[in-house]
Amino acid sequence: TSVVVLAGGLSHERDVSLRSGRRIGQFLTDAGFDVTVTDVDANLLAKLTDLKPDVVWPLVHGAAGEDGSLQDLLELLDLPFVGTDADGCRLASRKSVAKSILKAHGIATPEFALLPQMLFRQLGASGILSAVEHSLGLPLAVKPDDGGSALGVTIVREASELPAAMVACFAYSDYALIEQAVDGTEVAVSVIDTGDGPRALPAVEIVTDGPYDYDARYNAGRTEYFTPARLPEDVTERVQATAVAVHEVLGLRHVSRIDLIVDAEGTPWVLDINVAPGMTETSLFPQAAASGPGVEIYADLVRAALP
Ligand code: DAL
Repeated sequence: TSVVVLAGGLSHERDVSLRSGRRIGQFLTDAGFDVTVTDVDANLLAKLTDLKPDVVWPLVHGAAGEDGSLQDLLELLDLPFVGTDADGCRLASRKSVAKSILKAHGIATPEFALLPQMLFRQLGASGILSAVEHSLGLPLAVKPDDGGSALGVTIVREASELPAAMVACFAYSDYALIEQAVDGTEVAVSVIDTGDGPRALPAVEIVTDGPYDYDARYNAGRTEYFTPARLPEDVTERVQATAVAVHEVLGLRHVSRIDLIVDAEGTPWVLDINVAPGMTETSLFPQAAASGPGVEIYADLVRAALP
């Protein structure tokens, strides 16, 4: 079976994606697949036509890889691929869209507002920001609506920090998602479906001495992880059931990672959905896989994508 792993691309998470791609490429090679890891560049169409792989695994992170456009292309080329189809990616990759769908299904996600940069140009910042603060309160999380790896994310505890947070966010996206920041335990739950329905892998608990930012995510030793998360059994079950519900409600396929905060009452709040979760040495999916089904899961996911 031949597999092409797509990595790189031009998003802000290019380096992370190259690391994810190399690692998955190695796992699949070890499992006996005929693997090509390739960058997403101007030669992509020629390469795919030439290689005619049995399965493609798109591992490009961020806007250009998770928003459905790469998946659209694979569907146009009639190439089977690992992961969520183009329609599902479109829903999941815009945090605001995903959160609205989750809310409609009674799944807890922090209250939020979506603010385009254009609105700030038209109306000026101060009125908008005081309305946001008045309605959502503090603290707030400001993040690019379609970003990943915490790039452009700021936790705002004082109103005076909001303008700088908006500027940092707009460096990465034209759309800022501002949501209530919930205090609690940060966990990530990976969901897999290799043909017999979605199931949650062990929850990974994330403990940092500062924000879980880009640096804390990709430098070994900056963050402590506990797998399974140190939560009471009933809360763990609730967290895992929530992640599976998110996967189902958004129509995700094969593999996803749901990031949540568990508050003091044990309520899981959904923060983010990843259709192409990071697969680097310090990423969360591989840690969950290692403590759950093991490295065989990568081969099983490829087999699940075969027609
Ligand atoms: N967006 C990165 C790759 C992650 O969530 O793992």
